[in-house]
Amino acid sequence: MKLLLIAGNWKSNKTISESEDWIQKFNAKCQMLNAKWENKTVVLCAPFTLLNILKESIEAEKLPLGLGAQDVSPFGDGAYTGEISARMLKGLADWVIIGHSERRKYFMENDEVLAQKVAKAKEAGLKVIYCVPDDKMSVPRSVDVVAYEPVWAIGTGKSDSPENANSVISSIKKQSGIHIVIYGGSVTAENVFSFVSQDAIDGVLPGGASLDPVMFARLITAAISG
Ligand code: 13P
Repeated sequence: MKLLLIAGNWKSNKTISESEDWIQKFNAKCQMLNAKWENKTVVLCAPFTLLNILKESIEAEKLPLGLGAQDVSPFGDGAYTGEISARMLKGLADWVIIGHSERRKYFMENDEVLAQKVAKAKEAGLKVIYCVPDDKMSVPRSVDVVAYEPVWAIGTGKSDSPENANSVISSIKKQSGIHIVIYGGSVTAENVFSFVSQDAIDGVLPGGASLDPVMFARLITAAISG
């Protein structure tokens, strides 16, 4: 069966109480749909401040959700004020997004620092989702998943065409040697199946559509059943 990875990226959104509300509503939807989600990987990439509470709720409610962070320090533990090291994350999250275009743009992260982040994440045993805007960007060999996210499609409501995303993703797979590549950029419950039904596309990375629990549950159902 084809692999399917759905990773919701909350970006810089939600307070503790908003995240608790999300879990409650998502749980209500999950109860009905749980069986269908077997063998699919659904991950929630949340702000650092929410990982602990989300982990507890996910375990308590036995939700079929993995947890990911959205960034990690390029350094280890130590005198790096404000940073969250990979070792601190391990135990709270299994996944981490590295190299999101928003990190590259607003925080001036370059290939060198991103390679250090990947190395630290892998040392700690985290699974890395590495974002690239096209098939020209270099990808560290040790990442687990690449996310193709064209910058112009992020948060604009204008997604790439499934056919073009499929061809860019095929090219990324060939050049990087990474076997799991997903698409992100204005993915919705309405268009998700057109992406995941393409040969080369192994899943999606929705941002805005993961913020609402009912919408996210609809997106997952649509990805699985068309
Ligand atoms: P949107 O789904 O809101 O376009 O965001 C995509 C994204 O950047 C996910 O990482």
